[in-house]
Amino acid sequence: MEDLHRRVLVTGGAGFLGSHLCERLLKADCDVICADNFYTGTKNNVAHLVGHPRFEVLRHDVTFPLYVEVDEIYNLACPASPIHYQFDPVQTVKTAVHGAINMLGLAKRVKGKILQASTSEVYGDPTVHPQTESYWGNVNQIGPRACYDEGKRCAETLFFDYHRQHGVNIRIARIFNTYGPRMHPNDGRVVSNFIVQALKGDPITVYGDGSQTRSFCFVDDLIDALVRLMAAPDEAFGPFNLGNPDEYTILELAERIVTMIGSRSRIIRAPLPQDDPMQRCPDISRARRILDWEPSVPLEEGLERTIGYFKSLLKVE
Ligand SMILES: NC(=O)c1ccc[n+]([C@@H]2O[C@H](COP(=O)([O-])OP(=O)(O)OC[C@H]3O[C@@H](n4cnc5c(N)ncnc54)[C@H](O)[C@@H]3O)[C@@H](O)[C@H]2O)c1
Repeated sequence: MEDLHRRVLVTGGAGFLGSHLCERLLKADCDVICADNFYTGTKNNVAHLVGHPRFEVLRHDVTFPLYVEVDEIYNLACPASPIHYQFDPVQTVKTAVHGAINMLGLAKRVKGKILQASTSEVYGDPTVHPQTESYWGNVNQIGPRACYDEGKRCAETLFFDYHRQHGVNIRIARIFNTYGPRMHPNDGRVVSNFIVQALKGDPITVYGDGSQTRSFCFVDDLIDALVRLMAAPDEAFGPFNLGNPDEYTILELAERIVTMIGSRSRIIRAPLPQDDPMQRCPDISRARRILDWEPSVPLEEGLERTIGYFKSLLKVE
């Protein structure tokens, strides 16, 4: 019988972004296969989707080939926070590079579209601000973050080579800091770190003097961008910077979270980690122009929803 639903594979589908993406695709009537090895993602993240007639979970490591019949692939599988990707750096490189080769091979075989979840980390510690997609980056290839940064850079190379050499229909999303419900509570990412510390009344650790800036995109906005990118005309394959261009200093973020929670936490300082970028801000003009996309959830609202999630996770009133 003819299947009218688009069949979509989401690798890393049990992770923070992946689980929101699976949800969104099911709402759009797709058949969704979530493939994950549960390295940093959890079954809990997709437990509410299990039992949905068009949803399927596969325990699978993308460093091994996968044969499934799909129309579209979102390749999100990869540990994303420094604590997680530095825990087993060799595995991180394998996931980024072998994972890309395996998923590109699949896209080539099924003649499907494939979207890569790349990262602002491909810009390293940037020397131009804000970063446009034409900037080649400033990455320390032998530093502790290189397993992730260079892994993701190599994955982009592979995507472009599969496109040029084999005509694979690709999409590249360079994702900047995204936050929201289902972030891992102990992954050391700044938003989750601060919220968890503030909810527990623990000291809030700000690295350096806190004047380094970051931009924060709420997960719903980011997922909207990924879906738009997949649906964009084939020649609009990117790369696209996707993130929120509003910049905040880390200290401002810490103070805002403490105030919103009404926490008794004190803000304390710790030394800046190696290769921590001073400034990170996307230029999203390309996404605005071609995808007709820009973030719409204000920081206050996104934080409110994220704080609500962590309150229920940590069982704090
Ligand atoms: N969240 C962000 O701010 C952000 C920023 C830039 C890029 N990204 C990219 O988006 C993607 C998703 O990130 P996230 O924030 O949801 O992180 P996450 O850690 O929550 O999700 C990653 C998922 O990939 C799975 N995974 C890891 N290695 C795997 C492997 N070898 N085989 C199969 N599954 C594997 C994990 O178990 C997890 O479910 C990643 O590729 C990340 O690099 C995220």
